[in-house]
Amino acid sequence: MPIPLDAGNVLRNRYKIIDRIGQGGMGNIYLAEDTRLSGRKCAVKEVEHDKALSADILHEARVQFEREASVLARLDHPNLPKVSDFFSAGERDYLVMDYVPGEDLRTLLLDARGRNEFLAEKDILDWISQLADALFYLHSQNPPIVHRDIKPSNMKITPDGYLKLVDFGLVKILTPGEDTITIIQGQGTLLYTPLEQYGGSDTHTDVRSDIYALCATMYHLLTGQAPLDARQRFLNPQLDIDPRQINPAITPRTQKAILWGLEIHPNQRPESIDIFRKYLFGTKELPSRPSLRPTHIRLLDRLLEPPEVVLVSLAIVLLFFSLISTVSQ
Ligand SMILES: Nc1ncnc2c1ncn2[C@@H]1O[C@H](COP(=O)(O)OP(=O)(O)O)[C@@H](O)[C@H]1O
Ligand SMILES: [Mg+2]
Repeated sequence: MPIPLDAGNVLRNRYKIIDRIGQGGMGNIYLAEDTRLSGRKCAVKEVEHDKALSADILHEARVQFEREASVLARLDHPNLPKVSDFFSAGERDYLVMDYVPGEDLRTLLLDARGRNEFLAEKDILDWISQLADALFYLHSQNPPIVHRDIKPSNMKITPDGYLKLVDFGLVKILTPGEDTITIIQGQGTLLYTPLEQYGGSDTHTDVRSDIYALCATMYHLLTGQAPLDARQRFLNPQLDIDPRQINPAITPRTQKAILWGLEIHPNQRPESIDIFRKYLFGTKELPSRPSLRPTHIRLLDRLLEPPEVVLVSLAIVLLFFSLISTVSQ
């Protein structure tokens, strides 16, 4: 864990550290004053690369950091803090962005739990709608940007009700034919992580991985508890809990949308955030039938759907006739 900078330290002759506001696996997050734009507060995220890395790999990590930071700096969306600068100092890299006032969603969850209350579905849907806007924007970039770390502690709600997705730590830019680019590989919780992203695997992650994490977050916000992690759900489908069993006030549409997005296999989730939000907010009907039934039982259901039944029966009949003709020769 890097030793934090003291208040009063000035980075790059410009950013004066006021306080440490967060601490991550790879560095600290500071509240700082931008001395060039007097009065502007910013958040400075620090990343210290592992000292044990070889010089080559360290260089590669740096190049990657700069490439990603410059992509982030070009983004401009009301639900993302504006990234305004990035630089390296000694062995540490820094990303400078707008400071977002307010509480993060994890704190709001803990407060509600302390009061023995659920957060209101209406507020949650408002936040999720803003989160979906941010993800739609990221996924619509060319090449698409997958966030890969959607969870309550990575979102802040400003005093005037805006949601901001603050942590760009695991952002991945989907460049076809190129190896994965992941700037800051943290070791976050697996509670919101889809199975295809386990072990830091990148080969199979795409926009549907963010949909899973969004739904796991929504599940947590509505029920006060995170869903079982994806591996547990896969291995013990009978333990999966319907969110309405915990909070019966959840509307059926919201419940169905969550379960759809939480499907273990990405092919069974909504294919885009746009389809998902149209369903959640009521302008689109659900194309499939998400349920809490274990995946293998659902596979059986699918096998027995009418077109397959017809095909399977046809194959059996043909086999029967070919047998008869072989035997009678
Ligand atoms: N731009 C920002 N403005 C205000 N607070 C922030 C900002 N970025 C991060 N934070 C705070 O710092 C915490 C940790 O930052 P984050 O980027 O999520 O780091 P980590 O990668 O270690 O999780 C966040 O949960 C949030 O409370
Ligand atoms: Mg974080």
